[in-house]
Amino acid sequence: MPFRPRYTGLIDKYRDRLPVRDDTRIISLGEGNTPLIRLSNIPRILGKEVDIYVKYEGLNPTGSFKDRGMTMAVTKAVEEGSKAIICASTGNTSAAAAAYASRAGITAFVLIPEGKIALGKLAQAMMHGAVVIQIRGNFDAGMELVKQVGKEAPVTIVNSINPYRLQGQKTAAFEILEELGGAPDFHCIPVGNAGNITAHWMGYSEYHEHGIVNDRPRMVGYQAAGSAPFMRGKMVDNPDTVATAIRIGHPQSWDKAWVVQKESNGWFDECTDAEILAAQKLLAEREGVFCEPASATSLAGAIKDIASGKIPAGSKIVCTLTGHGLKDPDTAIKQSTSPMLTVDATLSEVKAAILNNMAD
Ligand code: F0G
Repeated sequence: MPFRPRYTGLIDKYRDRLPVRDDTRIISLGEGNTPLIRLSNIPRILGKEVDIYVKYEGLNPTGSFKDRGMTMAVTKAVEEGSKAIICASTGNTSAAAAAYASRAGITAFVLIPEGKIALGKLAQAMMHGAVVIQIRGNFDAGMELVKQVGKEAPVTIVNSINPYRLQGQKTAAFEILEELGGAPDFHCIPVGNAGNITAHWMGYSEYHEHGIVNDRPRMVGYQAAGSAPFMRGKMVDNPDTVATAIRIGHPQSWDKAWVVQKESNGWFDECTDAEILAAQKLLAEREGVFCEPASATSLAGAIKDIASGKIPAGSKIVCTLTGHGLKDPDTAIKQSTSPMLTVDATLSEVKAAILNNMAD
């Protein structure tokens, strides 16, 4: 039987493109190497000749793309002798920080907006032993506090303002280029703090500059309509959306993301909560791919732009699905319309339930 070498995470794989030394102790959970799934039903439903791939980042170890950045940030924090890390988070960063800190044997402090993070993410932070600090305020307020406390306490900030985070996250673009053998025409991605869109552009640009590929995609960033500072052209003070992961009004990578938009000749757009949830459901029901609401923003936006022709027929499109659907079971159950039957434990009742619900 032919054997493959064990996959040991993105730092090992892309060591020569990341700021680590030969003797650096790598803190890894085997993150990266996520599937790029070609959609087989949705393009037909849309009635358009487009090739859509979803990069299923929900299959990272803690269920979101944050693991790519966190393996780098925690590896470097440990290398620099840090005993504690801190982040503000809408949930996924806190889950990743908690997991990687536990593996490294250091403490994670996580600031989260009270009542506004999805249940799965809270469970993760708690289970991995992070010190969870709920604040009566939103993510943006938490981020300001983290920046201030980072100056006064011996803690390393692991939000995406930590440059190692983006270094780790750029590897998602490497993987896409390697699998497609070149750049897609469009890369659609949800935008909150705008760290991930920035990191992807870094990755695409790095392979381009080194002559590994000869093109780069147009980057399209989609926001939730209630939290869309890039559409308003200014910061938003009271962001709101069902996609709590991107409930952010003051993006930390504001300037960088505008550069991405200009350099890549891309654009920003916004999706309503209804559009986001519809895309989440469509993916789950028609493609077997379960992502969290914020993640579905990339597909929701792509669907609109494909329909309008802004993304033309014949295009190759990659949509990043940033987090797993299991992160937010409440929203999923609330919007599900699948039949949920309760019957007696008898053959006749179970049989009737099946026969009455067969698809035509
Ligand atoms: N999708 C998900 C599932 C996220 O958790 C986030 C950000 C984004 C998209 C947006 O990425 O900020 O790089 O533009 N979540 C952060 C957190 C803010 O705390 O987990 P971005």
